[in-house]
Amino acid sequence: MLLRQVNLPDGREGQDVLVQAGRIAAIGPQLPVPEGIEIIDGQGCLLSPPFVDVHFHLDATLSYGLPRVNASGTLLEGIALWGELKPQLTQDALVERALSYCDWAVAKGLLAIRSHVDVCDPRLLAVEALLHVKERVKPYLDLQLVAFPQDGVLRSAGALENLQRALDMGVDVVGGIPHFERTYEQGTQSVKLLCELAAERGLPVDMHCDESDDPQSRHVETLAFETQRLGLQGRVTGSHLTSMHSMDNYYASKLIALMAEAQLHAVANPLINITLQGRHDSYPKRRGMTRVPELMAAGINVGFGHDCVLDPWYSMGSADMLEVASMGLHVAQMTSQAGMQACFDAVTVNSAWLLGLPDYGLAVGKSADFVLLQARNPAEALRLRAQRLLVVRRGQVLSRCAPATAHLNLPGRPEQIDWRLAR
Ligand code: FE2
Repeated sequence: MLLRQVNLPDGREGQDVLVQAGRIAAIGPQLPVPEGIEIIDGQGCLLSPPFVDVHFHLDATLSYGLPRVNASGTLLEGIALWGELKPQLTQDALVERALSYCDWAVAKGLLAIRSHVDVCDPRLLAVEALLHVKERVKPYLDLQLVAFPQDGVLRSAGALENLQRALDMGVDVVGGIPHFERTYEQGTQSVKLLCELAAERGLPVDMHCDESDDPQSRHVETLAFETQRLGLQGRVTGSHLTSMHSMDNYYASKLIALMAEAQLHAVANPLINITLQGRHDSYPKRRGMTRVPELMAAGINVGFGHDCVLDPWYSMGSADMLEVASMGLHVAQMTSQAGMQACFDAVTVNSAWLLGLPDYGLAVGKSADFVLLQARNPAEALRLRAQRLLVVRRGQVLSRCAPATAHLNLPGRPEQIDWRLAR
């Protein structure tokens, strides 16, 4: 396959990309055309590496309305509702919903997902189901699983044993939820024991951490400390970190430096944070998203996650990481050229780094995995939530989509709409 005349996210325009044996064989302007090769005219569209979702819940997705809808819209009612649904889950239904979501993901050019999986149900039905799904989707989607004690590893009886069983079964990452433990001290203890467990097993850590509007929720400080103490630098992720939104600026300035020193990765979930946080506020209502530009400025790797789609916590969503990045851009007011590029990176390269995907990126020798977007550059892709014209993995086309257009009937005006900025 030879893609002609594509733009790349780093700003190179009018490039050709040659794919041979599932890998990128050459990138450059006006490459020679080998015999008998499929030629795709990119027409100046953006060729991006695939989207990556660093934070998702594949065990809960597409369960909206089961057994009822979240009336208050809060995180805590969502957790309670998930608790009501858990006894009714079956493995077949879990697998079916997760596979359906993966279909949506592929169509949107989303080819790598880190999903948390609840380990508090001693049957570990969801773990078995998602391990099965991970194998099923392997040819087309990288799925990483996090052992997530939704009800608290100390608060929920047997959760630690279940979490260890899940890791024994092949779950990839150690999760946690310190702000949901019974006391602050128990939260601190949970961070320590889970980091020690990860160090013993040589696994990464990814905790739901300080998903709260309470500025006193400071478990990320402990997470940074334990990361340093155990030599886990670069392997630990703090997800959500919404309490940082409400923290005192002086304390936040100390904290961010500690996080950078520990080489923590940070994950914001813009759609969910803006929806679930600030629910106890009247006006003004807090946005609740963590301090994304400040974390990035300190050199911390920040990825954006979708977190939820049609589940007890969120009634919207469509596996569209451009929607996620667009919400992040708006909530964090990252409207500069550099800010928009950084938001695009947060759902592509930053997240690939966080997941440790070795074969990721548009470079010669890398796996031929990419998405052709109906936009000329990352900012335009974000503005238009661009159509995914072509989704390719290891040189094989996984999904095609017709260009979005509208046919106008306006006297004296063009028949076909052009969404681009006239230059
Ligand atoms: Fe989450």
